[in-house]
Amino acid sequence: MTKSSFDVAAVRRQFPALAQKHGDREAVFFDGPAGSQVPESVIAAIGDYLRTMNANHGGVFATSRRSDVMLDEAHRAAADFVGADDPDCCYFGANMTSLTFALSRAISQTWNAGDEIIVSRLDHDADVSPWVLAARDAGVTVRHIGLRPDCTLDLDDFRRQLSSRTRLVAVGAASNAVGTVNPVAEIAVAAHAVGAKVFCDAVHYAPHRLIDVAAWQVDFLACSAYKFFGPHIGVMWGRRELLESLTAYKVRPATNELPGKWMTGTQNHECIAGVLAAINYLASLGRTSPEQSRRAALVAAMEKIAAYERPLAERLQTGLDRLSQFKSWGITDLSRFGERVATFSITHRTLSPETVARRLDEAGIYVWNGNFYALPLTETLGVEPAGLVRIGLLHYNTSEEVDYLLNVLSSMT
Ligand SMILES: Cc1ncc(COP(=O)(O)O)c(C=O)c1O
Repeated sequence: MTKSSFDVAAVRRQFPALAQKHGDREAVFFDGPAGSQVPESVIAAIGDYLRTMNANHGGVFATSRRSDVMLDEAHRAAADFVGADDPDCCYFGANMTSLTFALSRAISQTWNAGDEIIVSRLDHDADVSPWVLAARDAGVTVRHIGLRPDCTLDLDDFRRQLSSRTRLVAVGAASNAVGTVNPVAEIAVAAHAVGAKVFCDAVHYAPHRLIDVAAWQVDFLACSAYKFFGPHIGVMWGRRELLESLTAYKVRPATNELPGKWMTGTQNHECIAGVLAAINYLASLGRTSPEQSRRAALVAAMEKIAAYERPLAERLQTGLDRLSQFKSWGITDLSRFGERVATFSITHRTLSPETVARRLDEAGIYVWNGNFYALPLTETLGVEPAGLVRIGLLHYNTSEEVDYLLNVLSSMT
């Protein structure tokens, strides 16, 4: 094994779910965009929390103190994961959707009638509806960034819509339907030039590439641990001055300090322990020495993951290109695969997406069909209500699985 190579067999051994059989062969998990499988270390951390430190926050007794130590470490890990310095600016909540609704309600208190916000047609609806509903309540106009035929954002359209009235731009880092990676840093520079804030939905991007809030210069960023090998819980990061100055909807006895100000009610501590373990799992893929910082290990890990996923994605696209009964949506030019992650959406010329997904299930291949809540996109593409078939590759998938999938798809004439 060289230092830079990627041992997928060793990775797979860490994920007990991947050993599940479907008939006489191992099931193939291409459903990652709706939730990845988790390594044993994450499962153990959740159980360990419940066994050894299960207590509420801020008590003076041993289990509460142990729990608080774990929580502090989880905030530090989340900051390392998103590329932030300040662990208090990362907080947890039910899921990305709930966190975004809460934040949108708070941010919109600073908007005035006549202001504008910009959302995109490429995004999951969780990065659209919270803003649209908050805008409705505040009398604010919503503008939409249009798409190019290859399912990339039309940045000229974005620049045309941006003005001194724009208060917020909400954009995804990567599409959960077609995999497009958006130029978030470029969008943030343009938005800040007119005084707008930038919210980034990094849910789909998180398991594939390195998040870097410092380099991207966004103001808020959300992700969801169940997409990056953790349990079902959301993670939010925001700039300190904004998190401090905004008014959170919260109960009176709850703290006004960060991060507690934004963490309503009693948190899901066992899942936060799972997030910590998931981030440490990812760091372990890049770690070269015990002294290396977690962030440095994560940087190396995400580089390895991206380098592993790209040929896998190219192999899938090359195979799909040979199957004329299927249409691939999004970027298909292999030379541009740096602009996308390994999430593919296809349609068959006659079979419905549901039929294709059911036939794949019969062969032990798990994929999603429908719109995956990327409704603005599926409406724009004109594929509602049936939607698309989504094949999501993660770093635990293999070229043998891709070849098997292509073989089964080729039988659907
Ligand atoms: C890109 C993207 N954004 C947001 C969400 C919503 O995340 P959550 O389920 O944590 O609310 C999803 C979930 O599929 C997603 O893929």
